[in-house]
Amino acid sequence: MSGRGADGSAGDADYGTIGGGYATYRQPDARIGQAIAAALGGARTVVNVGAGAGSYESTTLEVTAVEPSASMRAQRPAHLSAAVDAVAEHLPFDDGAFDAAMTIFSVHQWSDFRAGLREMRRVARGPAVVLTCDPGLVRDFWLYEYAPEVLDTEARRYPAVADLTEALGGRTTVTAVPIPVDCTDGFNEAYYARPEMLLDPAARQACSAWSFVDEEARERFAADLRRDLDSGAWDARFGTLRQQPFYEGSLVVITSVPA
Ligand SMILES: C[S@@+](CC[C@H](N)C(=O)[O-])C[C@H]1O[C@@H](n2cnc3c(N)ncnc32)[C@H](O)[C@@H]1O
Repeated sequence: MSGRGADGSAGDADYGTIGGGYATYRQPDARIGQAIAAALGGARTVVNVGAGAGSYESTTLEVTAVEPSASMRAQRPAHLSAAVDAVAEHLPFDDGAFDAAMTIFSVHQWSDFRAGLREMRRVARGPAVVLTCDPGLVRDFWLYEYAPEVLDTEARRYPAVADLTEALGGRTTVTAVPIPVDCTDGFNEAYYARPEMLLDPAARQACSAWSFVDEEARERFAADLRRDLDSGAWDARFGTLRQQPFYEGSLVVITSVPA
């Protein structure tokens, strides 16, 4: 298939390079999992598109995983089903084959998100659920003051929420997902109250946006943040976040049900 990397990666990020430590830092968070479960409603059979290592796949549901990157497929734990090697844009399933479809932290990487969402809508009889970030909100995070190029990259990559709802069709709802202070899924905003975590190069690597900036920018970021943490400047400006149990950032769950 054209446009796929050496390990089969189909998106704009190369998971042959990024993927190795992904599962270590990106453990599914139970509270975010509850938001996804609520959106899936009473579904029993679910297709998980861009399933990666299987985060947020409920073992109480019958899940069919779709994942193009061999590196990500290899990180799926033994208790989960093996993933089908396919892309969102061409799902190898019949119309209405599943009760529901979900895609988590993946839609921004697809070469044609409209085609992928149409496919999700086609194969799901019930809800099609998308967990993603609202690009209009990603720059409202303190990280923007330290690594603007990373969040500019994020803002460019994430499709606008209105474009996602239009492509999904049906009756759509968009709900903000609060991020817990001890969130176990290490995307950038998950560290809103733990800035020290972003000094760890492996934690940064588990968020694909960091792979789009050069080493010099990453080193400058780490030096600036370390300086402000050592001097207390970060805490003087943002320290109240350390006591905040949840952060409402750019994370949203979009649900489409047939009209
Ligand atoms: C950030 S990871 C998220 C993985 C998993 N859903 C999770 O929450 O941990 C994005 C995933 O989307 C996959 N992906 C990229 N382009 C895709 C496409 N066109 N169709 C299906 N999956 C794709 C990548 O290979 C990667 O595993």
